[in-house]
Amino acid sequence: MIYLDNGATSFPKPKGMIEAMDSCMSSYCGNPGRSGHDLSRRTGEEVYQARKMLARFFKIEKPDRIVFTNNTTQALNMGIKGVLKEGDHVITTVMEHNSVLRPLRALKDQGVEYTLVQCGSDGSLDLTNVEQAIRENTRLIICTQASNVTGTIMPVQDLGILCKKKGILFMVDGAQGAGHMPMDVKNIDLLAVPGHKGLLGPLGTGMLYVREGVSLRPLMEGGTGTVSRDIKQPAELPEGFETGTINAPGIIGLGYSAGLVNKIGVDIIRQHQLELTRILDSSLRNMKNVTVYGPSDCKKKVGIVTFNINGYNCEDVASLLNDDYGIAVRGGYHCAGLAHKAIGTWDCGAVRMSMGIYNNGKEMKAAADAVYAISKG
Ligand code: ALA
Repeated sequence: MIYLDNGATSFPKPKGMIEAMDSCMSSYCGNPGRSGHDLSRRTGEEVYQARKMLARFFKIEKPDRIVFTNNTTQALNMGIKGVLKEGDHVITTVMEHNSVLRPLRALKDQGVEYTLVQCGSDGSLDLTNVEQAIRENTRLIICTQASNVTGTIMPVQDLGILCKKKGILFMVDGAQGAGHMPMDVKNIDLLAVPGHKGLLGPLGTGMLYVREGVSLRPLMEGGTGTVSRDIKQPAELPEGFETGTINAPGIIGLGYSAGLVNKIGVDIIRQHQLELTRILDSSLRNMKNVTVYGPSDCKKKVGIVTFNINGYNCEDVASLLNDDYGIAVRGGYHCAGLAHKAIGTWDCGAVRMSMGIYNNGKEMKAAADAVYAISKG
Protein backbone atom coordinates (compact mmCIF):
# COMPACT_ATOMS: atom_id res chain seq x y z
CA MET A 1 0.00 0.00 0.00
CA ILE A 2 1.21 3.51 -0.83
CA TYR A 3 -0.25 5.66 1.92
CA LEU A 4 -1.11 9.17 0.72
CA ASP A 5 -3.75 10.12 3.27
CA ASN A 6 -1.55 11.75 5.87
CA GLY A 7 -3.90 14.76 5.91
CA ALA A 8 -6.46 12.49 7.59
CA THR A 9 -3.96 10.76 9.87
CA SER A 10 -0.32 9.77 9.59
CA PHE A 11 0.61 6.20 8.77
CA PRO A 12 2.65 4.20 9.61
CA LYS A 13 3.28 5.18 13.22
CA PRO A 14 6.78 5.13 14.70
CA LYS A 15 7.65 1.84 16.40
CA GLY A 16 9.00 3.65 19.48
CA MET A 17 5.65 5.40 19.91
CA ILE A 18 3.81 2.08 19.85
CA GLU A 19 6.32 0.68 22.36
CA ALA A 20 5.87 3.68 24.67
CA MET A 21 2.08 3.15 24.66
CA ASP A 22 2.47 -0.59 25.12
CA SER A 23 4.87 -0.15 28.02
CA CYS A 24 2.45 2.31 29.67
CA MET A 25 -0.56 0.02 29.32
CA SER A 26 1.21 -3.19 30.22
CA SER A 27 3.42 -2.04 33.07
CA TYR A 28 2.30 1.11 34.88
CA CYS A 29 -0.94 2.70 33.65
CA GLY A 30 -2.75 4.12 36.68
CA ASN A 31 -5.08 7.12 36.57
CA PRO A 32 -2.83 10.20 36.61
CA GLY A 33 -3.54 12.96 39.13
CA ARG A 34 -6.14 10.91 40.95
CA SER A 35 -4.43 8.63 43.44
CA GLY A 36 -1.17 8.71 45.36
CA HIS A 37 0.07 5.21 44.56
CA ASP A 38 3.09 4.41 42.40
CA LEU A 39 1.18 3.60 39.21
CA SER A 40 -0.86 6.79 39.28
CA ARG A 41 2.23 8.88 40.11
CA ARG A 42 4.34 7.28 37.39
CA THR A 43 1.62 7.84 34.77
CA GLY A 44 1.25 11.47 35.92
CA GLU A 45 5.01 11.97 35.59
CA GLU A 46 5.08 10.49 32.06
CA VAL A 47 2.14 12.69 31.00
CA TYR A 48 4.03 15.69 32.35
CA GLN A 49 7.10 14.69 30.32
CA ALA A 50 4.88 14.59 27.22
CA ARG A 51 3.53 18.05 28.07
CA LYS A 52 7.08 19.33 28.42
CA MET A 53 8.05 17.81 25.07
CA LEU A 54 5.16 19.50 23.27
CA ALA A 55 5.94 22.80 24.99
CA ARG A 56 9.51 22.55 23.72
CA PHE A 57 8.26 21.63 20.24
CA PHE A 58 6.06 24.74 19.93
CA LYS A 59 8.38 27.04 21.93
CA ILE A 60 5.79 27.38 24.70
CA GLU A 61 7.38 28.69 27.87
CA LYS A 62 5.11 27.00 30.40
CA PRO A 63 3.99 23.38 29.74
CA ASP A 64 0.89 24.00 31.89
CA ARG A 65 -0.50 26.24 29.15
CA ILE A 66 -1.09 23.08 27.10
CA VAL A 67 -4.43 21.30 27.51
CA PHE A 68 -4.53 17.78 26.10
CA THR A 69 -7.64 17.01 24.04
CA ASN A 70 -8.97 14.09 22.03
CA ASN A 71 -8.43 15.82 18.69
CA THR A 72 -8.13 19.22 16.98
CA THR A 73 -11.91 19.58 16.78
CA GLN A 74 -12.22 19.40 20.55
CA ALA A 75 -9.36 21.89 20.95
CA LEU A 76 -10.99 24.30 18.47
CA ASN A 77 -14.39 24.03 20.17
CA MET A 78 -12.72 24.58 23.53
CA GLY A 79 -11.04 27.76 22.33
CA ILE A 80 -13.94 29.14 20.29
CA LYS A 81 -16.67 28.48 22.86
CA GLY A 82 -14.36 29.33 25.73
CA VAL A 83 -13.71 32.93 24.71
CA LEU A 84 -16.77 34.07 22.73
CA LYS A 85 -19.94 35.49 24.19
CA GLU A 86 -23.13 37.15 22.91
CA GLY A 87 -22.38 40.36 21.01
CA ASP A 88 -18.89 39.29 19.92
CA HIS A 89 -17.79 39.24 16.29
CA VAL A 90 -15.37 36.68 14.80
CA ILE A 91 -13.47 36.69 11.52
CA THR A 92 -12.38 33.54 9.77
CA THR A 93 -11.82 32.35 6.22
CA VAL A 94 -13.72 30.22 3.74
CA MET A 95 -10.77 27.79 3.69
CA GLU A 96 -11.50 26.60 7.22
CA HIS A 97 -12.46 23.07 8.19
CA ASN A 98 -15.96 22.43 9.52
CA SER A 99 -14.44 22.11 12.98
CA VAL A 100 -14.14 25.91 12.89
CA LEU A 101 -17.16 26.75 10.75
CA ARG A 102 -19.72 24.56 12.54
CA PRO A 103 -18.99 25.82 16.08
CA LEU A 104 -19.26 29.38 14.72
CA ARG A 105 -22.54 28.60 12.97
CA ALA A 106 -23.84 27.08 16.22
CA LEU A 107 -22.80 30.18 18.20
CA LYS A 108 -24.70 32.39 15.76
CA ASP A 109 -27.88 31.21 17.46
CA GLN A 110 -26.44 32.57 20.72
CA GLY A 111 -25.77 36.05 19.34
CA VAL A 112 -22.18 35.67 18.10
CA GLU A 113 -21.65 37.19 14.64
CA TYR A 114 -19.04 36.02 12.17
CA THR A 115 -17.53 37.13 8.88
CA LEU A 116 -16.15 34.63 6.40
CA VAL A 117 -13.35 36.22 4.38
CA GLN A 118 -13.17 35.06 0.76
CA CYS A 119 -9.96 33.50 -0.57
CA GLY A 120 -8.44 33.15 -4.02
CA SER A 121 -9.12 30.13 -6.23
CA ASP A 122 -5.77 28.70 -5.05
CA GLY A 123 -6.94 29.08 -1.43
CA SER A 124 -4.74 32.10 -0.73
CA LEU A 125 -5.75 34.75 1.77
CA ASP A 126 -5.28 38.48 1.24
CA LEU A 127 -4.58 40.14 4.60
CA THR A 128 -6.27 43.37 3.44
CA ASN A 129 -9.58 41.52 3.26
CA VAL A 130 -9.20 40.46 6.88
CA GLU A 131 -8.26 43.96 7.96
CA GLN A 132 -11.34 45.37 6.20
CA ALA A 133 -13.61 42.92 8.03
CA ILE A 134 -12.51 44.06 11.50
CA ARG A 135 -15.25 45.74 13.54
CA GLU A 136 -15.33 47.38 16.95
CA ASN A 137 -16.67 44.18 18.53
CA THR A 138 -14.28 41.78 16.74
CA ARG A 139 -12.99 39.59 19.55
CA LEU A 140 -11.35 36.74 17.67
CA ILE A 141 -9.72 35.92 14.33
CA ILE A 142 -9.31 32.25 13.45
CA CYS A 143 -7.22 30.91 10.60
CA THR A 144 -5.88 27.55 9.54
CA GLN A 145 -2.11 27.25 9.27
CA ALA A 146 -2.56 25.37 6.00
CA SER A 147 -5.71 24.32 4.15
CA ASN A 148 -6.61 20.64 4.42
CA VAL A 149 -8.06 20.83 0.88
CA THR A 150 -5.33 22.56 -1.15
CA GLY A 151 -2.45 22.65 1.35
CA THR A 152 -2.25 26.44 0.88
CA ILE A 153 -0.13 27.99 3.64
CA MET A 154 -1.90 30.91 5.29
CA PRO A 155 -0.13 34.09 6.51
CA VAL A 156 -0.57 33.25 10.20
CA GLN A 157 2.46 35.18 11.43
CA ASP A 158 1.21 38.38 9.73
CA LEU A 159 -2.31 37.76 11.03
CA GLY A 160 -0.88 37.34 14.53
CA ILE A 161 0.91 40.68 14.30
CA LEU A 162 -2.27 42.34 12.99
CA CYS A 163 -4.31 40.90 15.87
CA LYS A 164 -1.79 42.03 18.43
CA LYS A 165 -1.87 45.55 17.00
CA LYS A 166 -5.67 45.65 17.09
CA GLY A 167 -6.09 43.93 20.48
CA ILE A 168 -7.94 40.96 18.95
CA LEU A 169 -7.46 37.36 20.06
CA PHE A 170 -5.85 35.12 17.43
CA MET A 171 -6.48 31.40 17.11
CA VAL A 172 -4.69 29.04 14.73
CA ASP A 173 -5.91 25.65 13.52
CA GLY A 174 -2.66 23.74 13.21
CA ALA A 175 -4.24 20.52 11.91
CA GLN A 176 -2.25 20.39 8.66
CA GLY A 177 0.76 22.43 9.73
CA ALA A 178 1.96 20.99 13.03
CA GLY A 179 4.96 18.75 12.45
CA HIS A 180 5.01 19.60 8.73
CA MET A 181 6.31 23.16 8.94
CA PRO A 182 7.82 25.37 11.62
CA MET A 183 5.40 26.94 14.09
CA ASP A 184 6.06 29.37 16.88
CA VAL A 185 3.33 30.61 19.23
CA LYS A 186 4.88 34.08 19.61
CA ASN A 187 1.89 35.96 18.16
CA ILE A 188 -0.73 33.31 18.77
CA ASP A 189 -3.24 33.28 21.65
CA LEU A 190 -4.83 29.90 20.99
CA LEU A 191 -3.31 27.04 18.99
CA ALA A 192 -5.25 23.84 18.27
CA VAL A 193 -3.18 20.88 17.13
CA PRO A 194 -3.74 17.18 16.33
CA GLY A 195 -1.47 14.60 17.90
CA HIS A 196 -2.02 12.00 15.19
CA LYS A 197 -1.07 13.82 11.97
CA GLY A 198 2.26 15.60 11.54
CA LEU A 199 3.29 14.78 15.11
CA LEU A 200 2.90 11.04 14.32
CA GLY A 201 1.05 10.24 17.56
CA PRO A 202 -1.95 7.96 18.04
CA LEU A 203 -5.51 8.82 17.01
CA GLY A 204 -7.54 10.31 19.85
CA THR A 205 -4.86 12.85 20.83
CA GLY A 206 -4.61 16.59 20.35
CA MET A 207 -3.89 19.75 22.30
CA LEU A 208 -4.87 23.35 22.81
CA TYR A 209 -2.27 25.95 23.74
CA VAL A 210 -3.72 28.89 25.65
CA ARG A 211 -1.52 31.95 26.04
CA GLU A 212 -1.11 33.18 29.61
CA GLY A 213 -3.65 35.94 30.29
CA VAL A 214 -6.32 34.53 27.94
CA SER A 215 -9.36 33.73 30.02
CA LEU A 216 -11.25 30.63 28.94
CA ARG A 217 -14.56 29.12 30.03
CA PRO A 218 -14.37 25.32 30.15
CA LEU A 219 -16.27 23.30 27.59
CA MET A 220 -17.01 20.61 30.18
CA GLU A 221 -17.16 20.39 33.93
CA GLY A 222 -16.42 17.35 36.05
CA GLY A 223 -13.70 15.51 37.92
CA THR A 224 -10.21 16.98 37.79
CA GLY A 225 -8.57 15.15 40.71
CA THR A 226 -8.15 18.52 42.47
CA VAL A 227 -10.23 20.47 45.10
CA SER A 228 -12.78 17.65 45.13
CA ARG A 229 -14.90 19.15 47.93
CA ASP A 230 -15.67 22.20 45.81
CA ILE A 231 -18.43 21.66 43.26
CA LYS A 232 -17.22 24.68 41.28
CA GLN A 233 -14.99 23.78 38.32
CA PRO A 234 -11.36 24.79 39.00
CA ALA A 235 -10.18 27.52 36.64
CA GLU A 236 -6.53 26.43 36.56
CA LEU A 237 -4.84 25.10 33.46
CA PRO A 238 -4.45 22.36 32.54
CA GLU A 239 -6.54 20.41 35.06
CA GLY A 240 -9.64 22.63 34.88
CA PHE A 241 -9.86 21.83 31.17
CA GLU A 242 -8.79 18.19 31.18
CA THR A 243 -11.96 17.03 32.88
CA GLY A 244 -12.44 13.29 33.33
CA THR A 245 -9.85 10.57 32.87
CA ILE A 246 -7.41 11.53 30.15
CA ASN A 247 -6.01 9.34 27.36
CA ALA A 248 -2.73 8.83 29.23
CA PRO A 249 -1.28 6.04 27.00
CA GLY A 250 -2.08 8.10 23.90
CA ILE A 251 -0.56 11.26 25.36
CA ILE A 252 2.57 9.37 26.41
CA GLY A 253 2.83 7.95 22.86
CA LEU A 254 2.39 11.47 21.49
CA GLY A 255 5.17 12.73 23.75
CA TYR A 256 7.46 10.12 22.26
CA SER A 257 6.52 10.81 18.62
CA ALA A 258 6.69 14.60 19.03
CA GLY A 259 10.18 14.10 20.44
CA LEU A 260 11.08 12.06 17.37
CA VAL A 261 9.76 14.72 14.97
CA ASN A 262 11.67 17.33 16.95
CA LYS A 263 14.85 15.27 16.71
CA ILE A 264 14.54 14.80 12.95
CA GLY A 265 13.77 18.51 12.64
CA VAL A 266 10.70 20.16 11.14
CA ASP A 267 12.87 22.03 8.62
CA ILE A 268 14.19 18.73 7.25
CA ILE A 269 10.70 17.22 7.16
CA ARG A 270 9.43 20.31 5.34
CA GLN A 271 12.22 20.06 2.77
CA HIS A 272 11.53 16.34 2.21
CA GLN A 273 7.81 16.92 1.71
CA LEU A 274 8.46 19.87 -0.56
CA GLU A 275 10.58 17.68 -2.85
CA LEU A 276 7.89 14.98 -2.92
CA THR A 277 5.13 17.49 -3.56
CA ARG A 278 7.07 19.00 -6.46
CA ILE A 279 7.43 15.60 -8.15
CA LEU A 280 3.74 14.74 -7.84
CA ASP A 281 2.36 18.22 -8.46
CA SER A 282 4.37 18.86 -11.64
CA SER A 283 3.62 15.39 -13.03
CA LEU A 284 -0.12 15.86 -12.55
CA ARG A 285 -0.12 19.41 -13.90
CA ASN A 286 1.47 18.09 -17.10
CA MET A 287 -1.41 15.66 -17.73
CA LYS A 288 -3.95 16.86 -20.25
CA ASN A 289 -7.02 15.46 -18.55
CA VAL A 290 -6.08 16.37 -15.00
CA THR A 291 -6.88 19.59 -13.09
CA VAL A 292 -4.73 20.34 -10.07
CA TYR A 293 -6.00 22.81 -7.43
CA GLY A 294 -4.11 25.05 -5.04
CA PRO A 295 -0.91 27.05 -5.59
CA SER A 296 1.29 25.91 -8.47
CA ASP A 297 4.33 27.08 -6.51
CA CYS A 298 4.78 24.18 -4.09
CA LYS A 299 6.59 26.44 -1.62
CA LYS A 300 3.21 28.00 -0.93
CA LYS A 301 1.66 24.77 0.28
CA VAL A 302 2.24 21.83 2.58
CA GLY A 303 2.48 18.29 1.21
CA ILE A 304 -0.96 18.12 -0.37
CA VAL A 305 -1.82 17.64 -4.04
CA THR A 306 -5.52 17.87 -4.85
CA PHE A 307 -6.90 17.17 -8.30
CA ASN A 308 -9.66 15.84 -10.50
CA ILE A 309 -9.49 13.71 -13.61
CA ASN A 310 -11.79 15.33 -16.14
CA GLY A 311 -14.92 13.27 -16.67
CA TYR A 312 -14.38 11.10 -13.58
CA ASN A 313 -16.14 11.25 -10.24
CA CYS A 314 -13.60 11.97 -7.48
CA GLU A 315 -14.87 9.18 -5.22
CA ASP A 316 -14.55 6.72 -8.14
CA VAL A 317 -10.95 7.81 -8.70
CA ALA A 318 -10.20 7.35 -4.97
CA SER A 319 -11.73 3.85 -5.13
CA LEU A 320 -9.82 2.93 -8.28
CA LEU A 321 -6.55 4.12 -6.74
CA ASN A 322 -7.22 1.95 -3.71
CA ASP A 323 -8.59 -1.13 -5.45
CA ASP A 324 -6.42 -1.29 -8.57
CA TYR A 325 -3.19 0.44 -7.50
CA GLY A 326 -3.02 0.04 -3.72
CA ILE A 327 -2.86 3.80 -3.18
CA ALA A 328 -4.72 5.31 -0.20
CA VAL A 329 -6.10 8.82 -0.80
CA ARG A 330 -9.16 10.81 0.27
CA GLY A 331 -11.82 11.87 -2.22
CA GLY A 332 -14.85 14.10 -1.64
CA TYR A 333 -15.22 17.34 0.30
CA HIS A 334 -12.75 16.79 3.17
CA CYS A 335 -15.13 18.27 5.80
CA ALA A 336 -14.49 21.69 4.24
CA GLY A 337 -17.32 22.43 1.80
CA LEU A 338 -16.68 26.18 1.62
CA ALA A 339 -13.04 25.61 0.69
CA HIS A 340 -14.25 23.51 -2.24
CA LYS A 341 -16.58 26.34 -3.21
CA ALA A 342 -13.61 28.75 -3.18
CA ILE A 343 -11.49 26.57 -5.48
CA GLY A 344 -14.38 25.77 -7.84
CA THR A 345 -15.13 22.17 -6.86
CA TRP A 346 -18.43 22.73 -4.99
CA ASP A 347 -20.27 20.47 -7.44
CA CYS A 348 -17.72 17.69 -7.75
CA GLY A 349 -15.32 17.56 -4.79
CA ALA A 350 -11.77 16.42 -5.50
CA VAL A 351 -9.14 13.75 -4.87
CA ARG A 352 -6.52 14.61 -2.26
CA MET A 353 -3.08 13.01 -1.97
CA SER A 354 -1.36 14.05 1.24
CA MET A 355 2.27 13.23 1.92
CA GLY A 356 3.99 12.25 5.13
CA ILE A 357 7.45 11.77 6.52
CA TYR A 358 7.66 8.13 5.41
CA ASN A 359 6.84 8.68 1.72
CA ASN A 360 9.49 8.70 -0.98
CA GLY A 361 10.02 9.84 -4.57
CA LYS A 362 9.37 6.37 -6.02
CA GLU A 363 5.90 6.42 -4.47
CA MET A 364 5.23 9.85 -6.00
CA LYS A 365 6.11 8.48 -9.45
CA ALA A 366 3.90 5.43 -8.91
CA ALA A 367 1.03 7.67 -7.81
CA ALA A 368 1.47 9.90 -10.87
CA ASP A 369 1.58 6.83 -13.16
CA ALA A 370 -1.64 5.52 -11.61
CA VAL A 371 -3.43 8.85 -12.16
CA TYR A 372 -2.18 8.92 -15.75
CA ALA A 373 -3.39 5.37 -16.40
CA ILE A 374 -6.85 6.16 -14.99
CA SER A 375 -7.04 9.37 -17.02
CA LYS A 376 -6.37 7.31 -20.14
CA GLY A 377 -9.32 5.09 -19.27
N1 ALA B 1 -9.56 16.71 8.78
C1 ALA B 1 -8.98 15.51 8.29
C2 ALA B 1 -8.81 15.55 6.79
O1 ALA B 1 -8.61 16.59 6.24
C3 ALA B 1 -9.65 14.27 8.78
O2 ALA B 1 -8.85 14.51 6.15
